[in-house]
Amino acid sequence: MTTPTTTIKTIGIIGAGAMGTGIGQVAVTGGLTTRIFDQDPQAAQAAQEQITKRLARQVEKGRLSNEDYTHATKRLQLAHALEDLQDCDLVIEAIVENADVKKTVFQALEAIVRPDALLASNTSSIPIGSIAQHCKHPNRVAGMHFFNPVPLMQLVEIIPAPHTHASVTQTLSEVGKIMGRTPIVVKDSPGFLVNFGGRAFTTEAMLINYENIASPAQIDAIMRDCYHFRMGPFELADLTGIDVNFPVSAFVHGEFFNDPRLKSSPHHRYMMQTGQLGRKTGQGFYTYGDDQTRPSADSTTTETAATTVIVPVADTRLQSILDSAGLQCLANDDGESPILIAPQSEDATAYLLRHQLEAVAHRVVALDTMGDTGTRLTLMGTPGTDPAMVNRVLAALQTIRKVCVINDSPGFVGPRIVAMIANLGCEMAQTGVADPHDIDKAMRLGLNYPQGSLEFCESLGVETVYHLLRHLQALTGDDRYRPSGWLRRRAQLKLPIHTPDLRQTQ
Ligand code: NAI
Repeated sequence: MTTPTTTIKTIGIIGAGAMGTGIGQVAVTGGLTTRIFDQDPQAAQAAQEQITKRLARQVEKGRLSNEDYTHATKRLQLAHALEDLQDCDLVIEAIVENADVKKTVFQALEAIVRPDALLASNTSSIPIGSIAQHCKHPNRVAGMHFFNPVPLMQLVEIIPAPHTHASVTQTLSEVGKIMGRTPIVVKDSPGFLVNFGGRAFTTEAMLINYENIASPAQIDAIMRDCYHFRMGPFELADLTGIDVNFPVSAFVHGEFFNDPRLKSSPHHRYMMQTGQLGRKTGQGFYTYGDDQTRPSADSTTTETAATTVIVPVADTRLQSILDSAGLQCLANDDGESPILIAPQSEDATAYLLRHQLEAVAHRVVALDTMGDTGTRLTLMGTPGTDPAMVNRVLAALQTIRKVCVINDSPGFVGPRIVAMIANLGCEMAQTGVADPHDIDKAMRLGLNYPQGSLEFCESLGVETVYHLLRHLQALTGDDRYRPSGWLRRRAQLKLPIHTPDLRQTQ
């Protein structure tokens, strides 16, 4: 390659599957002449028809003018052979996820296109550098990772490999913008940004369920109501397909030398092995089809509601929830009222031991005060808690909110999952996967998260997340919970989580 092309007018797309079709659509609407090639001519033909149909629907909905429709469909062309891409300024490969096949296609392309044409791969798992190393001109090769469905997903990850020319990264970012996407430059590392950072939401939920802390329905409800995710982790897993999310989890875990932070649970694999793949097979964590009744997330009781409680450690958030439910806090222990605690980083067992409440352990009930408690509350007890005590508190709280009753767990459900998301975000910042603010943007745009990983950390409290992870690590003995150095330093120094490292400011 001589000088990278700075003006991209004509692009080629190889592979006319789900991704190639989506990329083609946003390319023609962005004004780029687009040639689609597939080894299966029918697939290319189908992509053209699909794009035309989708654009026509946009005209019907008033989102695209007739004139723009005509121009866009004219820009869309079929390539009958790889050679038809010879005058393209950029070729984006979106073929089968196989490193050898991709390598062969890139080598074939190099013999066809101009020396200054750019080459990009939409791979989700193959290192871009491993494709580029087989090219004659690796400095024009980079990753351009779109998300499915492309027209609806704003993000595109731009991934330079070791030899990629800086101007190529810049040009591909510009092309992403022309296509109406938001480009984020990401390091060439396993899962890139989103497929790495998104692991914790699924894997920690799987583990919480595997440990019998809470049911899929409870975990989903908590993550929707208290943390504003559009879907809970199990609903999402069923939608994307267990045959997609389990292999991605296993792949990322393996690529990071089996880092326990990224480990999924045996039950996740079991779902795949037994063909319970989610919506596509009618059975996943939920049942689909005619009978779609789901197990309820809400605990209810006919027990007589408590009217008085003991609060051994003052907590303003706990107090305000108890006030809303009309629960009176007694100044002196009457020997029979439930004892309400609000542990933030320990489980109820560790908390009651630290506060020397062993003698009254059967009356101790824990309430999660973190996250949004306006719709749903989470109650938890120790194995020594009298179930009647939990039910008396539940009876009082179910009059004001939906309630989930779960087994003892440090960080309940929501804070535990969010802390794990935050920790992976911190690890990405620490290892330079992307700029801290870009990490947040990518998580919001690539996964529809209500907040980015570091933003979640900030809103839960940097020190709170750090202490929660430290306690999880100590109580479970599992290095899965070891805090990222990025998080530890900022928590200990009481700094905002986005505070850049020294080298990032140089
Ligand atoms: P797909 O299976 O829907 O389509 C692949 C297309 O490539 C097929 O039409 C096939 O005929 C064609 N093809 C295979 N080998 C070819 C070759 N040597 N030359 C020309 N055409 C060839 O696959 P999909 O889902 O569109 O994925 C394509 C790429 O995008 C993969 O690398 C995948 O990892 C990546 N990706 C997929 C995402 C997804 O959610 N499906 C998301 C982001 C990236």
